[in-house]
Amino acid sequence: MKAMDILKKGIFLFSFSILFISAGAQHTGNDRIEILLKKMTLKEKIGQLNQAMAGWEVTGPSAKVNCRELIREGKVGAILNTYMVDSVMALQRIAVEESRLKIPLIFGNDVIHGHCTIFPIPLGQAASWDLDAIEQSEQIAAKEASAEGLSWTFSPMVDISRDPRWGRVAEGAGEDTWLGCRIAEARVKGFQGKDLKDPRSIMACAKHFGAYGAPQAGRDYNTVDMSMISLYEWYLPTYKACVDAGAGSIMTSFNEINGTPSTSNRWLLTDLLRKSWGFRGFVVTDFGSISELISHGVAVNEFQAAALAMHAGVDMDMMSRAYENSLEELVKEKKVTLTEIDNAVRNVLLAKMKLGLFDDPYRGISKEREQKEIMAPEYLAFARKMVAECCVLLKNDKGTLPIPVTVKTIAVIGPLGDSKRNMLGNWTSAGDEEKCVTLLEGLKNKAGNNVSIIYEKGCNTNDQDRGGFKAAVDLASKADFVVLALGEDEWMSGEASSRANIDLPGVQNDLAEEVIRTGKPVAVVLFSGRPLAISRLNAIAPAILETWFGGTEAGNGIADILSGDYNPSGKITMTFPRSVGQIPVFYNCKNTGRPFRPAEPDQKYVSRYLDLPNDPLYPFGYGLSYTTFFYSNLKVSVNGNKILVAADVKNTGNRDGIEVVQLYIHQKVGSITRPVKELRGFKRISLHKGETARIEFTLTSDDLAFYHPDLKKYYESGEFEIFVGGSSNASLTQSFLFK
Ligand code: NOJ
Repeated sequence: MKAMDILKKGIFLFSFSILFISAGAQHTGNDRIEILLKKMTLKEKIGQLNQAMAGWEVTGPSAKVNCRELIREGKVGAILNTYMVDSVMALQRIAVEESRLKIPLIFGNDVIHGHCTIFPIPLGQAASWDLDAIEQSEQIAAKEASAEGLSWTFSPMVDISRDPRWGRVAEGAGEDTWLGCRIAEARVKGFQGKDLKDPRSIMACAKHFGAYGAPQAGRDYNTVDMSMISLYEWYLPTYKACVDAGAGSIMTSFNEINGTPSTSNRWLLTDLLRKSWGFRGFVVTDFGSISELISHGVAVNEFQAAALAMHAGVDMDMMSRAYENSLEELVKEKKVTLTEIDNAVRNVLLAKMKLGLFDDPYRGISKEREQKEIMAPEYLAFARKMVAECCVLLKNDKGTLPIPVTVKTIAVIGPLGDSKRNMLGNWTSAGDEEKCVTLLEGLKNKAGNNVSIIYEKGCNTNDQDRGGFKAAVDLASKADFVVLALGEDEWMSGEASSRANIDLPGVQNDLAEEVIRTGKPVAVVLFSGRPLAISRLNAIAPAILETWFGGTEAGNGIADILSGDYNPSGKITMTFPRSVGQIPVFYNCKNTGRPFRPAEPDQKYVSRYLDLPNDPLYPFGYGLSYTTFFYSNLKVSVNGNKILVAADVKNTGNRDGIEVVQLYIHQKVGSITRPVKELRGFKRISLHKGETARIEFTLTSDDLAFYHPDLKKYYESGEFEIFVGGSSNASLTQSFLFK
């Protein structure tokens, strides 16, 4: 630590300890908070509940003058969107040296898939099914973010969604609740580490509580209306998983659930979250959500909105300034009690204590540490590996991929072939697009001097201009192999980016048709923040590799797959529909009383479409490899409360490969209907060519339990089926009885 830092730390500890010495004893964290609370004026208490945003200047983030004044007056508890050593130190110094009680600030930012080293978007990461890698990516994100002064991330986003029109599916883990819980736990662990006092950790914030992923018609911010059983069974468990993993904070969602907006929902924020789940962290709103209670139509003005939020259990107001403007008056008018305010302040101060901010408000930041941590070579190497793990090979007719070693000229064609910004994806924290490797660059890096890589854009992503088609077709004719880089721009997914039509935008399908017509071998590299409805492309493209938005190392990681240096192992965690008309289409659906049976295709009065099959283009859990796997020899046995499952998996192809072995259950008869399949386990295994492994799982009655109309979760004895395979279409099955 530099001398200056030591001096600063000393001054802070000295002034802060005066606060406690006056109380005349050694104190535990909780005592310290109580002592502090007693010294705080109402204004200072309200200040702790206020999250403000510092501004940006051309050279980077910095504080607006009014924000500095607010901090000095003790009117701010947390800052949004400021990072980098100098900026954070400048604001923190005001808080701990110039404000009366010297209470440190928390600095929060959206560190969603990396901070400076950007990893694939979360939906892509989920497709890796690699929980260790996901945890490690958050560890790296935490190290970089904390080195730049951040102590808090608004992540993980754990909203389950069955609607790919909703742009925010890019930020989550997909449609499955069980897998979503495992990924949520890994992310919280990754960010927070073993102890939040470790200055290389940051506090997690589970969001958006709750059920934000189920807006009507897939339109962002829209109404959520669903049965309580669905809410409990599918939409709430991922937030609970974060709470159980120790997430330090949780964010309310913009939406209403069954008539009550989350930010004024006392049942959600207090009865369920605190009383039933035992959450001990603090609750922050989403951006401006308290004021939005007026538009929702549950508050006439900001004053009433602030009271509703406080009663519901909101501790910190992100950017509405409703608490700042109204709480004092509300207390005077006895519409909010001091006890309510004290409880909220306690929750915030406790988080600061857990983060070690009272001992070192700068959490050991320094220019040296920043320089050492940011984009360290080992982080970039890890990011590259992660890109490859996240790609999903959707189609590969006649072994089109990997690109044969005999190929001498590769034509890269398409609007996403050389686009740095689009590699980053949405929510890029401090990611720098200039440092991103595009697909074209990645292929050039891979090929060296022996192979020539040529490029034409062909068309833009999202307009009707066909002016570049001819040059693209000419280029394709000169090549031995064509890589078509198609998809969405990164801004077409994420917040406020719902799409009613989720096919390839613009004239990209037409470009693909013309290029494929040249007869050259063609592989499509697809970039997207959601499952797209690509039936048209799928019908003509020999090979399709879904690559999401891969982040800083996107081009290198994709080139590893295209060249065959990495054998694809990703599996989609969200169903790819044939068309928007099928949505919501998800694997864990119900059978209905009139199920459609493909073996009887002419039935009319069954649950089906007249103009489309029921099944999706690509189901949950699906993804190809350059090798093949064969499943056999499934055995299920019950031993007391344990269900033991074992199956053989053989690598039957010509390459070593990684397979995600998936286990699904189905209860044949229940007191209420059960989904046709539910994921209850997976193993990501590596098999040499020709190798067979016996893969074992152990389930318990907990894995068979489900929510009942009384909203209690328990299992029912009866007959069950187990399915084991490489996707949710797994057909190797065996039944068993469980008492
Ligand atoms: C609004 C988004 O909904 C939320 O996810 C994000 O964390 C906040 N803005 C802060 O940027």
